[in-house]
Amino acid sequence: MHEKKQFFIRDPWKFDPNFQRPVTPNDELGFETRSLHAGFRPSESLERFRAFVPPIVPSMTYPYENFDKIPYPVYGRTKTPTTDILEQRLAALEGGQAALTAGSGSQALFNLIFTIARPGDNVVTTLNIFGEGYKQAASIFPERCGIHFRFVEDPADPKSWDKQIDSKTRLVWVETPSNPALFVTDIQAVADVAHSHNVPLMVDNTTATAAIQRPMDFGADIILLSITKFLAGNATILGGAIVGPEDLTEDIRWNTTEFVGAIMPPFDSWLALQYLETLSLRMDKHSSNTQIVAEFLAQHPQVTLVNYPGLKTHGQYDLAQKQMKAGGGMLSFIVKGGIPSARTVMDSFKLVIHAVTFGTSRTICMHPRTITHEHMTQAERDKAGIDDGLIRLSVGLENPNDIIADLEQALAKL
Ligand SMILES: Cc1ncc(COP(=O)(O)O)c(C=O)c1O
Repeated sequence: MHEKKQFFIRDPWKFDPNFQRPVTPNDELGFETRSLHAGFRPSESLERFRAFVPPIVPSMTYPYENFDKIPYPVYGRTKTPTTDILEQRLAALEGGQAALTAGSGSQALFNLIFTIARPGDNVVTTLNIFGEGYKQAASIFPERCGIHFRFVEDPADPKSWDKQIDSKTRLVWVETPSNPALFVTDIQAVADVAHSHNVPLMVDNTTATAAIQRPMDFGADIILLSITKFLAGNATILGGAIVGPEDLTEDIRWNTTEFVGAIMPPFDSWLALQYLETLSLRMDKHSSNTQIVAEFLAQHPQVTLVNYPGLKTHGQYDLAQKQMKAGGGMLSFIVKGGIPSARTVMDSFKLVIHAVTFGTSRTICMHPRTITHEHMTQAERDKAGIDDGLIRLSVGLENPNDIIADLEQALAKL
């Protein structure tokens, strides 16, 4: 456990373009090894509870040793021993210096922006972002905090990013591959542009996960994660995290999380640690299943488009090959006939489950036009590739033949 206290940071975090991540022993271990060992060794467990697995410490307060010595952790809103292990493990998997959890991925995003931007500042991003992120960007922050968001015209063109950044820009935010259109952004190119303005790049790595893509290896400074999705893998916990320089994560912890939220609770943190142990195995299977399903859909006469970074027809296939180890576990496809056809197909599924969220062991479908991205204008949806007939499919760990059989019978209803 760290002996560190950084209560009430007075100077807000400042991006240091020359910041070099310290090389930790974890960096030398393989991904699978880090997902099992980072942050906890049995020899480090408490003397009376020497254990093979990390302990769940549900205490929400931590006694003072004496009048002058503030314990660390001091209170469960900002740190618990179990959550501390999870944070260290997430940092090790992403290759970042430190991590900080939050009650959900959306809360992690909120806490990050709330901490680093002030009224009059702006954040540069695109329309290729998840629905709750869009709502924070289009309405919550501008209307309630005076923090503005600029959506770049052409996310594939570095000049388009450059054009939107000015002296008031505090953050550049990329989601790649994006939810739900699976747009792939060139992390290195956008990092170079952001850094030329001394602005940090945050990459939302929720859809790929560190098992498939490590944005920090391409110049990202900060990582946003929803633990709720693939990291947990079965829709049993809500959680999120920010990975980045420690002075940033501690600024958020002590100046925002302390007041408007909380880190993940100990039991959920412990569950996340168990689930992370199988992340690389699961992402391999999600990716191979999704590739098979994508290839099936791509030749189906009722399907006009399949968005999947593992398909050669994907607009950024070469880029995906460069920055991703596999295509990941999510695709989206457009059926002929708009909303009525999407309704028919989704209501006809016998195996595939209609629900929000993705990254679960069971295959899930969702209709972005009417569910997650309903607050976008039609023009914004057109730009973001959210067609009325677009169906998002989070491909699970079932036998792929069964998923295809279900898709086949549902599409036959059109
Ligand atoms: C790409 C991405 N990032 C972050 C989030 C937010 O995650 P959570 O549901 O844990 O708030 C989502 C949720 O859909 C997402 O799709």
